[in-house]
Amino acid sequence: MIHLFKEGQPEHPVLLLLHGTGGNERDLLPLAAYIDPQAAVLSVRGNVSEQGMPRFFRRLAEGVFDEEDLIYRTKELNDFLDDAAKQYTFNRKNIVALGFSNGANIAGSLLFHYQEALKGAILCHPMVPRRGLSLPKLAGTPVFIGAGRRDPLIPQEETLELEDILIQADAKVLLHWEEGGHQLTQTELHAAQRWYSKTFL
Ligand code: MLT
Repeated sequence: MIHLFKEGQPEHPVLLLLHGTGGNERDLLPLAAYIDPQAAVLSVRGNVSEQGMPRFFRRLAEGVFDEEDLIYRTKELNDFLDDAAKQYTFNRKNIVALGFSNGANIAGSLLFHYQEALKGAILCHPMVPRRGLSLPKLAGTPVFIGAGRRDPLIPQEETLELEDILIQADAKVLLHWEEGGHQLTQTELHAAQRWYSKTFL
């Protein structure tokens, strides 16, 4: 997968950056620098192109996922993380994802499918990636969800459903609400940063 890697302090997590639809591996670099300037950064570009816009998996319509491709791409990303940990010699169990929108959805899908894919996750404006699935035991995996009360793509019930599914799987979830829509805001990032520092540093 196309990606970039930046070394960090070994006692800090490795931040896995996952952009939104139409983004690339450079988009979330300022966010990583804000959340944890000393963390190593692994930033990945989605392998799927929707009319030239990079994404992490295909969709059939807005908010309607191609489930077969989602499963395939989730495995592809998980395998890539195994390889990247070897290539860049970091601890595979020390990865915290930071994903926005489509990137938050593939990060959520990693949690839904693989027990130790992530040490934790910051999911900014995520959806429920799949339904009717029995999740692996997430054994206290910390997850921050940033959501907008007026998100035109994601009804509040869907955010609450995602929170509930993750809690049922034993994840430790902090749900942060913004009054706005699908965009990332400074107050959301600030909340994510405070949560990250308390949780991982
Ligand atoms: C998705 O397709 O992952 C969601 O609809 C969010 C987005 O627009 O990327």
